[in-house]
Amino acid sequence: MHLHRYEKWWLTFGIGALIIFLAIVGIQAFHQGHQPPSAKVKVDPERVDQTEPFTKPGLHKVTGKDWDYELVIVASAFMFNPGEIEIPRGSKVKIIATTKDVVHGFEVAGTNINMMLEPGYVSEYITTFKKNGEYLIVCNEYCGTGHHMMSARLKVVD
Ligand code: CUA
Repeated sequence: MHLHRYEKWWLTFGIGALIIFLAIVGIQAFHQGHQPPSAKVKVDPERVDQTEPFTKPGLHKVTGKDWDYELVIVASAFMFNPGEIEIPRGSKVKIIATTKDVVHGFEVAGTNINMMLEPGYVSEYITTFKKNGEYLIVCNEYCGTGHHMMSARLKVVD
C-alpha cells in the first residue's frame, strides 16, 4: 500500500501522541500506587492468621502514631473477626482489614466507611467515631450462599 507523505506524517504524529498520552497515564498510575486511597499493602491470603497485625484481630491502642487505635479485621466466608467491636467515642481509628478467602465488602452502615476486601491485599481506612451508637457492619460484595448473613456489630461508647 502506498502512503502519501502527509499521511505518514500524521500517522507518526498520532502514534507519538498516543505514546505520550499512555506515558502520562502510566506515570499517574505509578504515583497513585504509592499513595492510594486504600493502600495496596500485600498479604499472603493463605497465611493471614500468621501475619501481623492479623494475628490479633480486634481494637488495639497504639502510641506514637497519627491515630489512637488500630482496628484489625479479618473477613472470611461468612463472618468478620471480631464480630463485636467497642470503640471509645472521639477516638481516631485506623481500620486495617483483609480477607482469607474471596472478595468481601466492609461497610459500616450509615457512614462513609465502605471498603472492598480483596484476597492478597490489606485495605485501610482512618476515621474518627464522633457519635455514640451502635452500627451494623455489613458485607456488600456478593461472596456466596452466606453473604446476606455476613455482618458484625460496632458500638461507639463513652
Ligand atoms: Cu462476604 Cu458478602
